[in-house]
Amino acid sequence: MRKDDGSLNLKGEVTPLMQVLLKRRSVRKYGEGAASDDQVAHILECVDRFRQVAGFERSRIVILGDEPRFKAVIKAAMAGLVGKMNPWLALTRARHLILAGAVYPPDGDRAETELAIKQAAMTMQVAILAATEVGLATCWMAGINHDRVELEYPLADGARLIAISALGLPPRRIGVSWDAMMYHLVSKRRKPLEEIWMEERWSDL
Ligand SMILES: Cc1cc2nc3c(=O)[nH]c(=O)nc-3n(C[C@H](O)[C@H](O)[C@H](O)COP(=O)(O)O)c2cc1C
Repeated sequence: MRKDDGSLNLKGEVTPLMQVLLKRRSVRKYGEGAASDDQVAHILECVDRFRQVAGFERSRIVILGDEPRFKAVIKAAMAGLVGKMNPWLALTRARHLILAGAVYPPDGDRAETELAIKQAAMTMQVAILAATEVGLATCWMAGINHDRVELEYPLADGARLIAISALGLPPRRIGVSWDAMMYHLVSKRRKPLEEIWMEERWSDL
């Protein structure tokens, strides 16, 4: 690993977290097969522990895998104009979806609502990184029909849907695909971690 790619922490060590951060890429073309129950359980355990440590009581993560529900949520996510942003989703070989939600404050306070959304996004990223850790592939999706998904699969406690991710096996090889195109167009221009890394404690913010 190069020294200047952000893979070393302030003490010059490569941490397991940094290895996962560097390894993780968006995948839009999945391999055949499904995440195992153990892998799904690992992701949910990481999410639970993170929520507890961070005190993010308003964040919700659901992993959907059962057939009729899974297909119905994909159809809902792809409904309307906004849902056309992810054409690859219709035929995905991923067999699970991660849904991220946030319970908004009852009084509609804007700052608190924004905080709930940020916390939900951080919780989703923990799920995404935990998936990477156990060798699974993911792709954040906010280009979806949120309202239709909420109708099809209402989240507990009236949580609002923030984003979803496909969850599946990585492809055995990346050929000519939507994935390869996105990688060349966007992902390859990823900033080095050291330009975006911030070491800070949540409690100090
Ligand atoms: C909040 C958020 C929403 C995203 N929505 C979509 C989406 O709707 N469709 C998609 O294909 N990728 C989506 N992405 C994935 C980005 O395109 C991807 O993260 C970016 O190209 C960088 O590539 P990388 O994840 O491989 O580093 C989203 C990412 C984030 C963080």
